[in-house]
Amino acid sequence: MDLADHTNEQYQKKLYSLQCDPRNDKGARSPDNVALHCHWIHKTFSKKRYLRILDVGCGIGLYSHQLAKYGHQVVGIDISAIVIKHAAKISVNDRCSFICGDIFDYNSPDKFDLILFTYSIFNTLSYQKGLALLQHLYGMQFSGGAFYIEALCLNKETFESGTKIQKECSHDDLFPEAEWVLRDIEWNNLEQSFEFRHYYQLNTKLEKTNLKLYAYSEQQYKNLLIKAGWKTVDFVLLPPGAFDNAGLPYSAIIARS
Ligand SMILES: C[S@@+](CC[C@H](N)C(=O)[O-])C[C@H]1O[C@@H](n2cnc3c(N)ncnc32)[C@H](O)[C@@H]1O
Repeated sequence: MDLADHTNEQYQKKLYSLQCDPRNDKGARSPDNVALHCHWIHKTFSKKRYLRILDVGCGIGLYSHQLAKYGHQVVGIDISAIVIKHAAKISVNDRCSFICGDIFDYNSPDKFDLILFTYSIFNTLSYQKGLALLQHLYGMQFSGGAFYIEALCLNKETFESGTKIQKECSHDDLFPEAEWVLRDIEWNNLEQSFEFRHYYQLNTKLEKTNLKLYAYSEQQYKNLLIKAGWKTVDFVLLPPGAFDNAGLPYSAIIARS
């Protein structure tokens, strides 16, 4: 199963069940973290007025719903039909709307004051694809609007390449029933990416997952955002509630047009 392929139905189902589980931070943030994070987002961007917000890769809509409670008008988009159905079902007010679709293909009829890209798929995109996505998002931004992204800053040294066998499955909790998992990490110097391969021993079969994460530095994020059209790019402290997955090097970036 390719974990960067969010159209894979088996993976969508696994991700959906993780997102619906409020006890962990996998797949989606826990409700407490979502509340903290959204409070910061509201205080940082709203400046005493209601915003039109695009929540990219909204999952079951935890952020969209929470931000709509502050009065903002939110459009959540996600490629997975199963999560969008859930998001729409639990929607408590008409300030939220949800769209099932690939963000690369979404042509919004409206523009947004704030585009959110948190806990996102950005690192699964190559430099060219990442730039194409940013240019596409920039086209949906009101002049004077803001783009907020949290993404990993990786380099060759972040993970140690090699193979390990673990007694318990700990990778994304995708196969908690596995008896063991063989974990293999490889750095690809040409692509500047890490490839994570996991083999899980389940009762009678072997499952395999594969995830490729591209290494972007802060300077590369800045270059891409400026190239896509934003005027200023600031790196801020990772806010309360943000995804920090056991100390992984996440950056919080605000770009303004
Ligand atoms: C890690 S989840 C985060 C969910 C949500 N933002 C949260 O923090 O609760 C990433 C989400 O991005 C969605 N996604 C992946 N690729 C996408 C694409 N090309 N267009 C829209 N959504 C996508 C996935 O289906 C998944 O629900």
